[in-house]
Amino acid sequence: MQKVHVPLEGRQYDVCIGGGLLAQAGAYIAPFLNRPRVAVITEERVAGLHLDALRAGLAANGISMTALSLTPGEATKGWAGLTQSVEWLLEQKVERGDMVVAFGGGVIGDLAGFAAAVLRRGVRFVQIPTTLLAQVDSSVGGKTGINTQQGKNLVGAFHQPSLVLADIDILGTLEPRDFLAGYGEVVKYGCLGDAAFFDWLEVNAPAMAAGDTALRQEAVRRSVEMKAGIVTRDEKEHGERALLNLGHTFGHALEAATGYGARLLHGEGVAIGCALAFEVSARLGLMSQESPSRLRAHLAAMGMKKDLTDIEGALPDADGLIALMGQDKKVQAGQLHFIMARAIGEAFVTNDVDPLVVRQVLQDALARC
Ligand code: GLY
Repeated sequence: MQKVHVPLEGRQYDVCIGGGLLAQAGAYIAPFLNRPRVAVITEERVAGLHLDALRAGLAANGISMTALSLTPGEATKGWAGLTQSVEWLLEQKVERGDMVVAFGGGVIGDLAGFAAAVLRRGVRFVQIPTTLLAQVDSSVGGKTGINTQQGKNLVGAFHQPSLVLADIDILGTLEPRDFLAGYGEVVKYGCLGDAAFFDWLEVNAPAMAAGDTALRQEAVRRSVEMKAGIVTRDEKEHGERALLNLGHTFGHALEAATGYGARLLHGEGVAIGCALAFEVSARLGLMSQESPSRLRAHLAAMGMKKDLTDIEGALPDADGLIALMGQDKKVQAGQLHFIMARAIGEAFVTNDVDPLVVRQVLQDALARC
């Protein structure tokens, strides 16, 4: 087991990364409890695969659990899912000093974390992320929230977990496509801040995707280490934390254009978005053309979507995609903030991007479709 510490003043916590952590969940969680019971919010797929193991892991330390299994999928992360979760927690008589457990992927982590943030003005929670995407990104850093009709993640709170347990063995039960979608967020870390990590991924990611757990643990550890550093320096996203959104402005527009569903998973949109952000950076003369080509070659070698051509079905034209990018949370005073890069591993935030270049890059990418 490896630990990454998130040293936020007064809200510090550990992210524990390793195999077999579900079986030891009770030992990890017990020191945080006022009484030996927890309330678990999960979803039906995860519950079917792993809830018995979690129950046994908690029982091994005399901790009882009660669980709410929600419908899997992004649609659960809305007002109705929040109401259901909060009312259930109240029915379970969860007290201010109790612990909620978020047991699932990003949807459950965001929703259960937000329910914990507003319940009795804030109760503590543990994240047990079950997808690669949640292990490397959404379970760490305290962003919680729900989607509304107006857009994704527009209602929420910063509420840091007390502990994160990233059990690498759980990743073995993911569908290959879901694993690779999560890998989009792993690649993002190399692209945004660590060229040596990108080099390492080029060499090791195929074996990692094929199931090598030691490599999976190292990829999760390095990703979490980078995220912990960024969050510690800029918890509320006044500056550096925005780098974590590399590829997301393009990715969110593509997700919106494809209906937030199976046509394009979030991590797939992020991977294509990183390639587009690199392409724009190259056209602006910020980086050599070799960098976007190298990123796309790596994504292709991993069997991932790397370009608009890889998305099935019709897409809006360039102006339509740009309009969807304008719905992004990162719009400030009507201006889009972009994450651009000077090289692999050297991303930066700017609002100084010529919209005509963005339009041209999108037009060229659509022309290849
Ligand atoms: N997922 C981006 C962030 O946590 O800031």
